[in-house]
Amino acid sequence: MKELKILAVVVFFTLITYYGVEPYAHHQMHKKVDAKGNEIVYEFKDFKYPDLKAVAAKGDATAGKAMISACTGCHGIASQKMKAPMDASASAGAYGVNPPDLSNAGAVFDEKFLIHFIMDPVHTAMVAHKFKGNKQYPMPVVAPDAQTAANIVAYLKSIAPKEITPKEAFVTACGRCHADRYGKWTQIGDVPKTKPNIVTHQDPQMLAFQGKVAEYQDHLAKYMGKLPPDLSIMIRARSEEFMQNFIENPQSQLPGTAMPRVGVSKEGFEKVIAYLEETGDPSKPKRAAVGPWVLGFFFIFTLLAYLWKQSQWKDLH
Ligand code: HEC
Ligand code: HEC
Repeated sequence: MKELKILAVVVFFTLITYYGVEPYAHHQMHKKVDAKGNEIVYEFKDFKYPDLKAVAAKGDATAGKAMISACTGCHGIASQKMKAPMDASASAGAYGVNPPDLSNAGAVFDEKFLIHFIMDPVHTAMVAHKFKGNKQYPMPVVAPDAQTAANIVAYLKSIAPKEITPKEAFVTACGRCHADRYGKWTQIGDVPKTKPNIVTHQDPQMLAFQGKVAEYQDHLAKYMGKLPPDLSIMIRARSEEFMQNFIENPQSQLPGTAMPRVGVSKEGFEKVIAYLEETGDPSKPKRAAVGPWVLGFFFIFTLLAYLWKQSQWKDLH
């Protein structure tokens, strides 16, 4: 009985120490401070972007469609059979980054955000600190008035699918800047399925593709100041709270960062996270299912160990 008591005491203090130290360390490591050293506490806004004024203008999709050539000079809309004028690498050469295909934009981005973005991309994306003086943001102000912008957004929403896949959300919102190695995604598209030559073992198609990716990444790194990180394991390295706050407002977590506020809607965010989870942590559902079994095992094991100990000591007392 004495040993059991000692064990209980040890377990008790181990748990206290764990609970005391772990969240504390967690908090300290993720502490964010501004330039003056004051701690930043960011209040999550549920992807509602309250700093952007509500737009009264009601969008007219037909009028928006008539205006869409103002966008397709740079962006493709594959679902409407409108091809981007240049491929990804050439676009990055021209703009620093490939303008995303707009087929799913109406389903991924917040409507109010999009209207403001079309009227004033730099401030809406919160990257004015990066684009000042003669350094111009590559997307111009196409429609400075709310009615025209709302019409274009109404059109984008009218062509957007009702339901999009996690991958489509990721590609539209993040894929032009971030690769996802586990998802076999590069900034210029999916890694192609190629076959090396059986005799020489060389894979010229793959080499050509990798060359294009490298070329794209060079342009992107120059444009962004650094190559945006591969997101394969980011979902494991960062807490969910960090991801929410960071994607809703990157400046709130990394003041001065070059990553824009991309303006995903709440559903858009959930799809993006689903993609990162499914590619970065594919065994998560399996692990979760195993959990109760492991706990059950420990319970039975402890019980047996206890009974065994009782039977051993019985004769000695
Ligand atoms: C001169 C080329 C050009 C034109 C014209 C243009 N864009 Fe863009 N657009 C870009 C580039 C480049 C980016 C990516 C910028 C970046 O990520 O830093 C972009 C980004 C976007 C994004 C992504 C925004 C986000 O939050 O991630 C949307 C949506 C968009 N454009 C919509 C439009 C619409 C709608 C029009 C027409 C009204 C349009 N663009 C016209 C070049 C252009
Ligand atoms: C226009 C390019 C661009 C787009 C679009 C973009 N990012 Fe980023 N992202 C960056 C850059 C650049 C960095 C590096 C930031 C830094 O270190 O300042 C970054 C960093 C990150 C980080 C790492 C933050 C950290 O803790 O170091 C995460 C996570 C991330 N992005 C997620 C996303 C997600 C999710 C999306 C889509 C919803 C997205 N990004 C869209 C450019 C982009």
